[in-house]
Amino acid sequence: ALGPLGLRGGVWVRKLLPVPWLLCGRRCVSSNFKAADLQVQVTQDPQKKPAPSEPLLFGKTFTDHMLMVEWSGKTGWGPPRIQPFQNLMLHPACSALHYSLQLFEGLKAYKGQDQQVRLFRPWLNMDRMLRSAGRLCLPAFDKLELLECIRRLIELDKDWVPNGAGTSLYVRPVLIGNEPSLGVGVVTRALLYVILCPVGSYFPGDSMTPVSLLADPTFIRAWVGGVGNYKLGGNYGPTVVVQQEAQKKGCEQVLWLYGPDHQLTEVGTMNIFIYWTHEDGVLELVTPPLDGIILPGVVRQSLLDLARTWGEFRVVERKITMKELQRALKEGRVREVFGSGTACQVCPVHRILYEGQQLHVPTMDSGPELILRFQKELKAIQYGTSTHEWMFPV
Ligand SMILES: Cc1ncc(COP(=O)(O)O)c(C=O)c1O
Repeated sequence: ALGPLGLRGGVWVRKLLPVPWLLCGRRCVSSNFKAADLQVQVTQDPQKKPAPSEPLLFGKTFTDHMLMVEWSGKTGWGPPRIQPFQNLMLHPACSALHYSLQLFEGLKAYKGQDQQVRLFRPWLNMDRMLRSAGRLCLPAFDKLELLECIRRLIELDKDWVPNGAGTSLYVRPVLIGNEPSLGVGVVTRALLYVILCPVGSYFPGDSMTPVSLLADPTFIRAWVGGVGNYKLGGNYGPTVVVQQEAQKKGCEQVLWLYGPDHQLTEVGTMNIFIYWTHEDGVLELVTPPLDGIILPGVVRQSLLDLARTWGEFRVVERKITMKELQRALKEGRVREVFGSGTACQVCPVHRILYEGQQLHVPTMDSGPELILRFQKELKAIQYGTSTHEWMFPV
């Protein structure tokens, strides 16, 4: 049977098989997952929800359920599952753990006065997440299908969305490479999952506590040609030691500088804004442009959109250097400096430690008029009862 004829038969078999096999393979590979295929397993062991009086520390309390979608290079995306919140089981060689093939998102859902839960501009987070996936060669997905799966997850856990002033439900989508081998390369397995955390107000009460910043150009968060404009886990781990350094020097957060001219890029995990009279005498709101080293923040975009619709001062995306800021401070042209991000929305800055000098930033002396206006407008949109076009009802 293993004579020359048999061998030729074997060659034929090998040559003929791939065609129908490939066709079947193509038919079975799913390049998207669909919310219509959601499988829902409701927990038999619901957890006690925090009492409204309990302070909710960021990211420490999780809801009863999570979304999980598995992907493999052979079969594509499996059906999305809503399942009880649970630990992951990972191969010790998992590529997310070894080579940071990992990305995430962060967005919030708010309970309006009418008790309707709504997500704030989630489409922008879906866009950013898909861009991050492309950067890491992780599998693409249909953004609207993922959003619908997230909506269904929040709907199931909607009693976890807190009610108090300034509270919200933080939504954390994650996509990880799950290759069970040590080679650095394109993964053939991935996991997409979403977990939810009820979170308290960033500024308890109505007080607004300003932050102080360490601006030390020896630490660089992101660089041209790098990945600072993507929300990859690998961008964050190495910042912890710098944050610790800032605290050692009596500062709360890091002002990330870049280049020989010490450009201001971001504050901690926030975008940065300055409201000042520019050198040309024009009152403006300025933030660094999206040139590759800045994370395209959803709140950043929203502040720009709001200020542009007001049309009351110039709104510009332009490079800002420490020299320009120092000069403007000296000449009394600076009104407000602040960070923007999902966690705090808008966060005032009152001091910057730079080249051994403490620079006083008069944000709080200015009201802070613009910051309070932004906070008020965002709150009205997020907790409002009418469905603003930025809000996605759950
Ligand atoms: C580095 C960095 N910059 C800016 C932001 C603000 O982005 P967003 O407004 O989408 O929360 C974040 C937080 O996500 C961040 O991690």
